[in-house]
Amino acid sequence: MQDITLTVNAGDSLAITGPSGSGKSTLLSLLAGLDVPTRGEVLLADTPFSSGSEDQRARLRGEHCGFVFQHFQLVADLTAQENVMLPLEILGRDKARDTARHWLGQVGLGKRCHHFPAQLSGGEQQRVALARAFAVAPSLLFADEPTGSLDYANGEHVADLLFSLNREQGTALVLVTHDQTLARRCSRAMSLVEGRLGV
Ligand SMILES: Nc1ncnc2c1ncn2[C@@H]1O[C@H](COP(=O)(O)OP(=O)(O)OP(=O)(O)O)[C@@H](O)[C@H]1O
Ligand SMILES: [Mg+2]
Repeated sequence: MQDITLTVNAGDSLAITGPSGSGKSTLLSLLAGLDVPTRGEVLLADTPFSSGSEDQRARLRGEHCGFVFQHFQLVADLTAQENVMLPLEILGRDKARDTARHWLGQVGLGKRCHHFPAQLSGGEQQRVALARAFAVAPSLLFADEPTGSLDYANGEHVADLLFSLNREQGTALVLVTHDQTLARRCSRAMSLVEGRLGV
């Protein structure tokens, strides 16, 4: 990752594209404070983010960010519903169960609430990961190839959900995607090639 200067404002939607291995997932991890840069700084809500302690990063991230991992990262011994409830409980939100069920319904998994990740298809797991991110109502949502495991219709539906959050709640979106239909719906697109970001 070299010479990257990037600002994401409230309500933005940014698509990041680029070849496999170019550093897209790494960039997303740095922006979300899941990883720290060897040089440089990430600011979140005007607060130094990447230079803080792991606890500070986790707290700021929890307050502001949702993250959909490329490989979903669901907790294997929790059901779909419990996976979605987990961050809500950590944040002390009311009605975690109702919120989890609402979002699982929104991604078309109302009948899969009590399944464990291993009992779900790849696309279903991806939709649980999306529901988990949507449920916290983040001001900034990072998603790493959020439609990568989905068929066309489910991909379109997830894109509609992402952009309705963007429109109605002002959620800023930073999406890594190879899906041109999804990328075109973003207000900005950038490409990453060998760790360098360009328009
Ligand atoms: N934990 C790690 N330790 C060392 N190198 C890593 C690590 N994770 C990724 N890399 C390397 O960093 C580079 C960028 O990886 P990254 O996962 O960010 O690529 P990507 O653009 O997301 O690719 P893809 O489209 O395949 O998901 C790759 O060369 C990869 O081998
Ligand atoms: Mg990746």
